[in-house]
Amino acid sequence: MSTISKIGVYTSGGDAPGMNAAIRAVVRTAHYYQLEVSGIRLGYEGMINGDIQPMNLKSVGNILHRGGTVLKTARSEEFRTDEGKQKAYRQLKRFGIDALVAIGGDGTFTGANKFSEMFEIPVIGIPATIDNDLKGTDFTIGYDTALNTVVKSVDQIRDTAESHDRLFIIEVMGRDSGMIALHAGIAAGAEAVMIPELKNNLEHLIERLSAPGHQKSSKILIVAEGQEIGGAFEIGRIVREKFPQYDTRVSVLGHMQRGGHPSCNDRVLASRFGVAAVEGLQAGKTQVMTGIQNQQIVYIPLDQAILQPSELDLKLLKIIDQLS
Ligand code: F6P
Repeated sequence: MSTISKIGVYTSGGDAPGMNAAIRAVVRTAHYYQLEVSGIRLGYEGMINGDIQPMNLKSVGNILHRGGTVLKTARSEEFRTDEGKQKAYRQLKRFGIDALVAIGGDGTFTGANKFSEMFEIPVIGIPATIDNDLKGTDFTIGYDTALNTVVKSVDQIRDTAESHDRLFIIEVMGRDSGMIALHAGIAAGAEAVMIPELKNNLEHLIERLSAPGHQKSSKILIVAEGQEIGGAFEIGRIVREKFPQYDTRVSVLGHMQRGGHPSCNDRVLASRFGVAAVEGLQAGKTQVMTGIQNQQIVYIPLDQAILQPSELDLKLLKIIDQLS
C-alpha cells in the first residue's frame, strides 16, 4: 500500500466525450477513500502555471453526462522541456499534490511517464481519445461516442446521397489510426474505406468503384484523415478525374466528432477507469494506464501503451467488400 494523500487530476490533449465522467469518478473515489483531490486546469499548462483548485463531491455534480472537459485541456510545448517539467513539479509541491491521474491520449502519457520518472511522483493514466489508438486497452474513453456520431452523420449524408444519386467522400478523424473509419464503414454500409494502415488504398478504391454489378444509386466512401493519399478533397479530385460519370461530393466531418453527450458505454468505461486509477495509486502502482481487455480492468505500463499504434483487425475490410 502507498501513502498518497492528495491526488492531482487533469485532462490533456484533444478532448473526448466521457472525460467529465472520468474526472467525476476520480474525485468521488478519492473522497470514498478519504483522499484529497485537486483539479489541474488546462492540462500541463495549468500544472506549470499553478492553475490548481481543490475538488469535492459537489464540484463534479451534474457533469457525468456532459461532453468536453470541465477541467479544460491543452497541448503544452513548455512541458516538453526539462525546465517546464521542473516548474510543474514545484507547483505540485506547493499544492501538496503527491500523485497524479492523467486523462488523455498518447501525448499526455508520454509527458506523464517522463515526469513520473524524473520526479518519482506516482502517475496513473486514463486513456481518453476518440482515436482508440492506445495499445493494451480494447477501448479508450470517447471512441464509442465519436463512432456513433460518425455513423449518425453518415446515415444523414446517405439520405441526400440517395436522393441525388451521388457519391460522397466523407473524411473522419483518427489521426494515424483507421479505427473510426473502418468501424463506421461497416456500421454505415460504406462502399469502401481508406485507412492509414493500408498501403494500396487507391488501387483498392478504383477496383471497388469499377466493379461490375456494383451500380448502387448512392455511394459512400469513408476516408480516414491519416491515410497516405491526402485528405478527402484530394481523393475527390482523383475520383472525379477517373470516374466522371459519378456526381461526387466531399464532406469533412471535423470536430463535431469530438463533441456531444458521452454514450452509455463511455460513461461506464470512464467510471470504471476512474475508480481503477485511484485504487491503483493506493495499491502503489505507477507509470501505468488503466485499460480494459475482455471486459476486465487491467493496468498497462505507459511506455507500452504509447509505443506502437493499436492493432487494427484488417479482416474487417473484407466485411465491407462482402456486405456493401
Ligand atoms: O486525437 C484526437 C483528434 O481529434 C484526432 O482524431 C485529430 O487528428 C486531432 O485530435 C485533431 O486535433 P486538433 O483538435 O488539435 O485539431
